[in-house]
Amino acid sequence: MGQRPQRKIELDEAAETVIERYGDLSGDKAAFTAALETPLPVCLWANSLRIKSKELEDKLIAEGFDPSPVAWNENAYRLPPGSRPGRSWLHKAGLLQIQEEAALLPVKLLAPQRGECILDLCAAPGNKAAQIAIALENRGTVIANDSHVGRLAPFQAAIARLGFLNVTTTTMDGAQFPLEAGPFDRVLADVPCSGEGTIRKGPGKHTPVPDNFRDWLRGKQRALLRRAIDLCKPGGRVVYSTCTFAPEENEEIIDAILSERSDVELISPEPTLFGTSTGISKWQGRCYSQELANTMRIWPHLSGTGGFFAAVMVKSGPSSKVLSDKTPEIDANARQVMENFIKYFGLPSETFDGLQTVRAGRRLKLVATDHRIPELEEVLASGLTLTGDSAKVPKLSTEAAMAFGSQATRNVVDLDDDQRTSYLSHQTLTLSPDQCIACNDRGYVIVRSEGLALGVGMIQKTADTTSLESLFPQNWP
Ligand SMILES: C[S@@+](CC[C@H](N)C(=O)[O-])C[C@H]1O[C@@H](n2cnc3c(N)ncnc32)[C@H](O)[C@@H]1O
Repeated sequence: MGQRPQRKIELDEAAETVIERYGDLSGDKAAFTAALETPLPVCLWANSLRIKSKELEDKLIAEGFDPSPVAWNENAYRLPPGSRPGRSWLHKAGLLQIQEEAALLPVKLLAPQRGECILDLCAAPGNKAAQIAIALENRGTVIANDSHVGRLAPFQAAIARLGFLNVTTTTMDGAQFPLEAGPFDRVLADVPCSGEGTIRKGPGKHTPVPDNFRDWLRGKQRALLRRAIDLCKPGGRVVYSTCTFAPEENEEIIDAILSERSDVELISPEPTLFGTSTGISKWQGRCYSQELANTMRIWPHLSGTGGFFAAVMVKSGPSSKVLSDKTPEIDANARQVMENFIKYFGLPSETFDGLQTVRAGRRLKLVATDHRIPELEEVLASGLTLTGDSAKVPKLSTEAAMAFGSQATRNVVDLDDDQRTSYLSHQTLTLSPDQCIACNDRGYVIVRSEGLALGVGMIQKTADTTSLESLFPQNWP
């Protein structure tokens, strides 16, 4: 599994331009250059809904990885550059998510609390929305919006893999996100930007940023931040972030917003153990408010990560309309399906407590009872699929099996390491009798390994053998 050998990164034209433009601003041009030449470590975090970080650390080591804990983020680990945890079974089983370390900061600053209602205005591919869903402990509401529907597809897959019951995805221009759908307790505006802070991802991935493109981005960034503030409740928090070094897209946007609005205050972010510096107050002859010292810059040579910028604001002023809290109900059919699953798999009777169901075509979906789905045409999907069909004996979905199957006491099989690899590569297996826990002679089973649920299979017992057909999805991320 391990890692590919890593060489120094050859600086391309885009990297040279970044060094030229920001070398002095970085405070140490030589160290900044050296950092951009150094391959980026891989960062991942434990899905704390399913596994404790120390347990994940042990499993990563057992799989041949070399994790070191991230000091400022208790669930996160750094792996050497070139490590590929995305290929391991730990990733398939939804135990971890890969995310650049610097990109963890905005949600840390947003500080979501259990049960809150949070909007991620520019959410795709969804890593920060995933962090928020976890911080809310799989309850409350995350609205993950992005104007590019195609860019939300990987997040839809991550919701299934990680088991989120508190996320609704929407697709629309964030600058026009309807005020009637708010207000939200907190809003994240992780806006589109020139992406110069991600230059360590390797050569050939970037081109120098033309001025007219940056100007176009700045218009968008301002409009998105204005709407983020409009959508936040009084006393609520707005975090603006980018993965670029450009003051025009960072301090200058915040400076413009502070001078045009009196209903928002920039606050000093809580200190982290992360190597950051404060925002700047001068750039290319332009001066910004001294308050901008309350913003945060992440420089690769100080933090060992990519580059980032974040500003934390608190909203003041009169309250706007509250999000509709009309909640969908559990119909009698859905309740029956849930009860059948509880009985068939010997799940604890309270397995689905605190959840409600939503119909989406033939699918029956589960969401947290306090999850509020906005009444918008642009809603794409909500929650986790319980079952994908309406057959008389419905099949438990892979994502529901993974989310709830570790507690099953009937119709369960436990696989060893080799069998797990075969199951995940869709092969049929032969089982020994002691691997089957209270299994019927033929039927669906929950498939586990090391006590962790991987998905669903079909068992068939004959006089001599017991076989397991893998029903693990072909296109699982
Ligand atoms: C920096 S990325 C967001 C990364 C994301 N927050 C994450 O952590 O995975 C910016 C996103 O803004 C989206 N975007 C661009 N213009 C937008 C708009 N007007 N409204 C909403 N989203 C927009 C892009 O499609 C892109 O996915």
